[in-house]
Amino acid sequence: MKTAERLESVQEYYFSKKLREVAALREQGKPVINLGIGSPDLAPPQQVVDAMQNGLKHSKAHQYQPYKGIPELRNAMTGFYSRYYDINLNAENEILPLMGSKEGIMHISMTFLNKGDKVLVPDPGYPTYTSVSGLLQAEVQKYTLDESQKWLPDLEALEQLGLENVKIMWVNYPHMPTGTKATADFFKKLTAFAEKNEILVVNDNPYSFIQNTQPLSILDTDIRSDYVMELNSLSKSFNMAGWRVGMLAGSSKNIEAVLKVKSNMDSGMFYPLQAGAVKALQLSDEWFLKLNELYSSRKKKVLELVKTLNCEAAPGQSGLFVWAKAPAGKSAESLVDELLYDKDLFVTPGFIFGEQGRDYVRFSLCATEEMIDEALKRIRS
Ligand SMILES: Cc1ncc(COP(=O)(O)O)c(C=O)c1O
Repeated sequence: MKTAERLESVQEYYFSKKLREVAALREQGKPVINLGIGSPDLAPPQQVVDAMQNGLKHSKAHQYQPYKGIPELRNAMTGFYSRYYDINLNAENEILPLMGSKEGIMHISMTFLNKGDKVLVPDPGYPTYTSVSGLLQAEVQKYTLDESQKWLPDLEALEQLGLENVKIMWVNYPHMPTGTKATADFFKKLTAFAEKNEILVVNDNPYSFIQNTQPLSILDTDIRSDYVMELNSLSKSFNMAGWRVGMLAGSSKNIEAVLKVKSNMDSGMFYPLQAGAVKALQLSDEWFLKLNELYSSRKKKVLELVKTLNCEAAPGQSGLFVWAKAPAGKSAESLVDELLYDKDLFVTPGFIFGEQGRDYVRFSLCATEEMIDEALKRIRS
């Protein structure tokens, strides 16, 4: 059976392939430590798991749920945005619960892109922006992020290059994989850029509570622009990656348009997951304090590992990773291979995030301190 032309633009996801290789190595008895992937290994808050289990007893737990989420979830999401970002959203029509933010990238793209439209995608950046644009036969235009520019886009240079037919620009701050934070001033400039050039700028914001004490949103406190939207997620903030709960915030007009696509693709989210998510979003910030204490201890050890490898990591990175430059004269890709095949340690080569990542390696904080100690021991041996 011949597959559709749109598949020609995408390949199997790097981790889908690489984790098969890691599993095969483990089957051969190799004790591979995974510092490659950003899947939180810690448990979600116990109250959240309890709320999810109680949700199973709800009289309508097993029925189809509303396409735009139960009202309690939308209220909890807007409450969360108000408490942590000081953004006031209308729970009726300015927030849309999603099954993870990844699906939101597809929904937004299906809502706004026509074949041949251009999409600005960060390099380095999350590979899904590129693959989803390719699946919709849109044209990806990579914009360069560089360490010398603090991994922020040069908006003036982008304007000079020409923005004809550009419909969407993906940004992601705190940025994965570099851990760069945005500033309120930069978000203001981005919003002005979006409005001036009539481009939909979407900030993908799943890391704002990890190794970061000042979460920022691209949205304006009170004014809803049709040119700015934001994705957010419970995956990393509450260790709920497997639950698949995220959200999209924006103007009521844009949310309504995205719902037109989404309501044709799924039939609501399982009730107990929504009940658990409500609980998570209502937790006090004590949760983030404890979570970040733990990641800080892990990070210290990962930074030691980075130093032992003669790699260099910029200070103050946010998010679930440490992004480090490979030693001069050594290719990051060969370093990653040596670590996997000689030291049974899986880390991620920066090239999978784009050309600009080719000299870098990404280390995940999603492993216990004991595992990181063991990795360090193997490297020193
Ligand atoms: C930048 C970025 N965006 C989105 C996602 C997807 O997160 P979710 O679990 O909410 O779909 C990830 C996951 O790793 C990510 O790194």
